[in-house]
Amino acid sequence: MTSAAFDLVLRNAVLATASDTYRADLGVRHGRIAQIGLDLPAGRQEIDVGGRVVTPGGIDAHCHLDQPMAPPVRLADDFLTGTRSAACGGTTTIIPFAAQQKGATLQAAIDDYHRRAHGKACVDYGFHLILTDPTPAVLDDELPRLIAAGYTSFKLYMTYESLRLSDRQILDVLDAVRRHGGMPMIHAENADCIAWLTERLEAAGRLAPRFHGWSRPALVEREGAHRAIAMAELVDVPVLLVHISGGQAVDQIREARAAGLNINAETCPQYLFLTAEDLGIDDSYHGARCVCSPPPRDAASQQQIWQGLADGLFQVFSSDHSPFNLHGEDGKTPGGAEVAFRHIPNGIPGIETRMPLLYSEGVLGGRISLNKFVELTSTGPARAYGLYPRKGTLAVGADADLVVWDERDFVLDNAHLHHAVDYTPYAGRRLRAWPGLTLLRGQVVWDGQTFTGTPGGGQFLPRGLPSLFPIGARAPGHRTWLQAALAS
Ligand code: URP
Ligand code: ZN
Ligand code: ZN
Repeated sequence: MTSAAFDLVLRNAVLATASDTYRADLGVRHGRIAQIGLDLPAGRQEIDVGGRVVTPGGIDAHCHLDQPMAPPVRLADDFLTGTRSAACGGTTTIIPFAAQQKGATLQAAIDDYHRRAHGKACVDYGFHLILTDPTPAVLDDELPRLIAAGYTSFKLYMTYESLRLSDRQILDVLDAVRRHGGMPMIHAENADCIAWLTERLEAAGRLAPRFHGWSRPALVEREGAHRAIAMAELVDVPVLLVHISGGQAVDQIREARAAGLNINAETCPQYLFLTAEDLGIDDSYHGARCVCSPPPRDAASQQQIWQGLADGLFQVFSSDHSPFNLHGEDGKTPGGAEVAFRHIPNGIPGIETRMPLLYSEGVLGGRISLNKFVELTSTGPARAYGLYPRKGTLAVGADADLVVWDERDFVLDNAHLHHAVDYTPYAGRRLRAWPGLTLLRGQVVWDGQTFTGTPGGGQFLPRGLPSLFPIGARAPGHRTWLQAALAS
């Protein structure tokens, strides 16, 4: 008996990468792509995909799972339910956040999150760190050690009292990242403007969910983005601005890019498919379901976000899955009560719907190409966060993380989804595509009907440095502002 050339062959596929679309078969051996070509020899397992589109598995580079919250509030998804949901929506790698507790080390956060993911994660995962306490010991000792160990991205908050860093602290972190490498991710909103507006709205009795949007106008994000860009320019370091919601911040990023700065950006489905009206057109509590930060904007902003996806302004399209139940005591009604907007937990679910929404409305809606879809949902995040080319593309040697797309019309209902959340903000929306198969390292984890993955089957991914842009390829003789000042 002759042994098969491959463990698995996907036949009659239309393979799509960030640059090409072509017909081929794809052979998998030991969980990796072993060969791509026409008329490949037999595999032990054969799947004829019948001319359907096959893309690399999605990388959701911004999601929150099992992140500790102040009681009674709790995220609805842990690593099991969140990654199960991810797989069923075509995502095979996630990068959630490990949040440093003030006064504690980064290592303690990482140890905690490894415990949370262990035995549960059904797709591959890395961790970003949320830096809340950038002491000299953290920046000079821990940061370089952790970068070398594969934790190469750091989220910095300009808002939220318990998380925010001062501008001075942000400069210190950016400076450390300049010395040691890595990718700073910045949540850019002006905290004092938000606090000032919130106090005044509350004093006037404006407490309904819709005032969450009024308390965080677009200018709050525009100013935060402008300041983050200025600090990145001063230190001369690349940054990635996360969850960009609207046109004013888009303009800031465009201007920075035009000036040659290494400013990268992420956006999310909520800024394409929701508007401020979803937070409420009256004072009912219904809009709590869509309270997230930054808040969804208006139709014009949605168009500017679509434009930025199409023309290369954004490198990364993430869910910012931050799931809270609508009902019960631990979610959008903390303690079982309808609360003032300031106390509604921020965040919405979306880890499973991220890719199908963009495929349906972006690719099949004619707004972006299939290759751009791959770039935004997989290749871009892989490059930004040091996973490329093991993840993020279809190439010999890459992990066989694959999505076979079914193009079919249906109306989304929360009952279709595999998260542990009691709603989706996209219920009732007509979708035109959904993964018919998701494979993680050559194993089917979603067969179009059923989750077939394994809790604990996801592997931790130590990550390298970003490869989105040629770091160090500055003009000969280039000096930072500080270097020039010291040399003057
Ligand atoms: O409202 C949101 N986005 N919640 C998650 C936390 C964050 O800032 O990403
Ligand atoms: Zn954020
Ligand atoms: Zn987030």
